Amino acid sequence: MFELLASFPADPILKLMGEYQADPRAHKIDLGVGVYKNEQGETPVLKAVKIAEERLLASESTKSYVGPAGNVEFNTLLSAELLGQHHSALAANRVKAIQTPGGCGALKALADLVARTKAGATIYVSNPTWANHEAIFSGSGLTVAYYDYYDKTNSQLTFDAMMKDLEQAGAGDLVLVHGCCHNPCGADLSLDQWQEFANLANKNGFTPFIDVAYQGFGANLETDAAGLRLVAEQCNEVLIAASCSKNFGLYRERTGLAMLITQDEAASNRALSQLLAATRANYSMPPSHGASVVAEILSSELRDLWIDELAAMHGRISGLRKALNQALKARGADNFDFIEEQKGMFSFLGLSESQVERLKSEYAIYMVGSSRVNIAGISSANLAYLADSIVAVL
Ligand code: LMR
Repeated sequence: MFELLASFPADPILKLMGEYQADPRAHKIDLGVGVYKNEQGETPVLKAVKIAEERLLASESTKSYVGPAGNVEFNTLLSAELLGQHHSALAANRVKAIQTPGGCGALKALADLVARTKAGATIYVSNPTWANHEAIFSGSGLTVAYYDYYDKTNSQLTFDAMMKDLEQAGAGDLVLVHGCCHNPCGADLSLDQWQEFANLANKNGFTPFIDVAYQGFGANLETDAAGLRLVAEQCNEVLIAASCSKNFGLYRERTGLAMLITQDEAASNRALSQLLAATRANYSMPPSHGASVVAEILSSELRDLWIDELAAMHGRISGLRKALNQALKARGADNFDFIEEQKGMFSFLGLSESQVERLKSEYAIYMVGSSRVNIAGISSANLAYLADSIVAVL
């Protein structure tokens, strides 16, 4: 049956990962896939995670199924971490959350829920957005539309154009916004802009859908969640997909949360039943390990250690943003201040595809074709070489 099936092009980020691994050059630099790295270029298991794992190893008594919604304690604790413990939506029982296989699984589960509610519903995503958003949403039969978000030439957010585009979004449509640390451009909404966004959602009736994969990487847990908390406070219906890949370093454990907020408790129960029916048909139940680790951390004194480790990751990334800008300035390239101002792991360098290709082929420096760089791939050992190479292709 597959004789006539054409090959599907590889995902650009995953393809780049393979190319980097196969490159024998010792001085190669990986600024591709969004994985945090320390000064040694490693992605170590967090100390809080290791300790939680030791405890689980000693205490786990069964490998029986976790149940369709996954680890209920994880769902409660992570929801509180995202919304803040005393959020009005939590108090009104308008929030339901399930554990999912990664943030990607959360996006897919919520997209399937939307499709069950309104087949072919339109979801507006930012231009640009994470490479996999369109595939996930169109895979669930949703109609993907784009709103203007970022001006690559001037390296800045285009908020007015965003709001103008979103005037078209109405009841029954969704608008996806990155909760913080926008992937790929690193430019986030200010709190005032979140407020304007929430006002527009309420005026036009569209449903905000927030993808939050980097809580703690922009500033801290509270500041990075301020926008989503505001929207969840002021809008009747909100969908949130959260990932523990980056902030708990649990990438391969596929640990995420799909959260839905509706106008009242009865509606949230009905929507939850549909969400669970969708995931049952997809993967039945989520894996246990990552969520058990997160639950152990968030429910014990390990939370303080985790917050310290998260702050260290954030501090390293902010330091690297500054160092890269200064290194480029020192070489006469003085229009990279935006790198220092943006948040999270990613920024566009603003290079052309041919410049990106030259950096890969001539200098063994790997970044996504759009010139998105993972700032965490920089270290004091490769910074000067990286800055020299960028300036050489400018
Ligand atoms: C990225 O954007 O590089 C990460 O979110 C990893 C991925 O799955 O694409």
